[in-house]
Amino acid sequence: MSKQYIQAVQHPVFELITKASVKLGIRSYVIGGFVRDYILERNVPKDIDVVALGSGINLAKEVAKLIPGQTKISVFKNFGTAMIRHQDLEVEFVGARKESYAADSRKPVVEDGSLEDDQNRRDFTINALAISLNEDDYGSLLDPFYGISDLERKLIRTPLDPDITYSDDPLRMMRAIRFASQLNFKIEEESFEAIKRNVHRIEIISNERIIDELHKIILSDVPSEGFKLLYETGLLSKILPELTNLQGIEEKEGQTHKDNFWHTLEVVDNIAKNTDNLWLRWAALLHDIGKAPTKRFDKKIGWTFHTHEFVGSKMVYTLFKRLRMPLNDKMKYVQKLVMMSSRPIVLAQDIVTDSAVRRLIFDAGNDIEDLMILCEADITTKNPRRYKKYSNNFKIVRQKISEVEQRDQVRNFQPPISGEQIMETFNIKPSREIGLIKEAIKEAILEGEIPNQYQDAYDYMLKRGEKLGLTPVNDKK
Ligand code: CTP
Repeated sequence: MSKQYIQAVQHPVFELITKASVKLGIRSYVIGGFVRDYILERNVPKDIDVVALGSGINLAKEVAKLIPGQTKISVFKNFGTAMIRHQDLEVEFVGARKESYAADSRKPVVEDGSLEDDQNRRDFTINALAISLNEDDYGSLLDPFYGISDLERKLIRTPLDPDITYSDDPLRMMRAIRFASQLNFKIEEESFEAIKRNVHRIEIISNERIIDELHKIILSDVPSEGFKLLYETGLLSKILPELTNLQGIEEKEGQTHKDNFWHTLEVVDNIAKNTDNLWLRWAALLHDIGKAPTKRFDKKIGWTFHTHEFVGSKMVYTLFKRLRMPLNDKMKYVQKLVMMSSRPIVLAQDIVTDSAVRRLIFDAGNDIEDLMILCEADITTKNPRRYKKYSNNFKIVRQKISEVEQRDQVRNFQPPISGEQIMETFNIKPSREIGLIKEAIKEAILEGEIPNQYQDAYDYMLKRGEKLGLTPVNDKK
């Protein structure tokens, strides 16, 4: 008697699928991520995959008929699938398939198949688990490839020879690593070796699909687990060569620098403990990429990475573009954080002056908190004394930030005096002088010469104007 999972299929939508299947005289099963996550007691996904021994599209149509008011189903004829959105669920229907690859062609010959044929052609044993939705064995688990045992052993394993599974759909190499990272599983040795052999095949996969998996790796609890696997298999140098270029330690005249690749992975793990913001995690991943092209050895000062933040932020654009990631405000945010990633550190090493903090807040705007989170994650020294020193310094910077914030409000700096007002005061037309006066007022505020207030800014404007040879026409303070 197979294991019973009646509890997993309590949602009323399953009952409708059973009814529709009876009507059509076909059998149906829920399969894939839904079953896996139910057994792992993770949040059960809102997308449910149903496999039918018959037409998935017809089954979807029949189910839709049973839902009052449900008229819309999405049919993907080419794939032989159909999808229904019902309440907060997305249910996808597919007919069981058997895929065979003719030796002289890469195109799969898709034929109708049994449930086992269908399970066989799925990516991993843990994703091939199916629960019956049929009246005679409702809730029974069908596990021909020992997926349950792999869930218990925390193992990613393919139902077929891994070379076949990965070659059929090379995205699965990324998926294997993503699941290992997300679920804290191991990839079976044979599978791991097969990924190494098939790495070049990733080239046929669209960037969008690769990035989807990469996002999930970045969002896992310990992202370095996934990145180590990407690195060891050779996938990382294909997808993000900017990162693998950071790997290695060079020595010159007895001086070495740290390995910026492994350092980066530590930073990403650190930040993962403090934020779920995907783009802030991306910033951590990319914060040092400018170090590879800017690395120099200087006889007097040793290893330097001068302007790496600037170069790195330019590289963010090229990287996002190549991977077809959005070139929008998210990209700009990552660029900004990479660009500013050393600012608080430099601050923390010096005496923390108010004006330096004011400039930091002015430049970071609303991203100041994220920037501090990034910089704190960047402390990876193993020397306890230094660790303490750096984190204490950041505490001081934070303290100063909140003091200066309360007093000076420069976070979203709006000039207290407008260009129009300057024109009116001195009765002048749009000209260079207006820009000069505005800039001088801003500088005076940031330097702490005057408070960020109207009256002080007004007086300062008069002074600057006079210096430029301008006379106020009508002094209406
Ligand atoms: N699948 C596959 N090969 C792929 C993608 C998916 O064999 N390249 C199969 C697996 O059986 C998988 C199911 O299709 O469980 C559904 O895929 P998908 O919704 O992408 O992933 P889930 O396993 O549901 O996991 P997640 O929701 O975490 O992405």
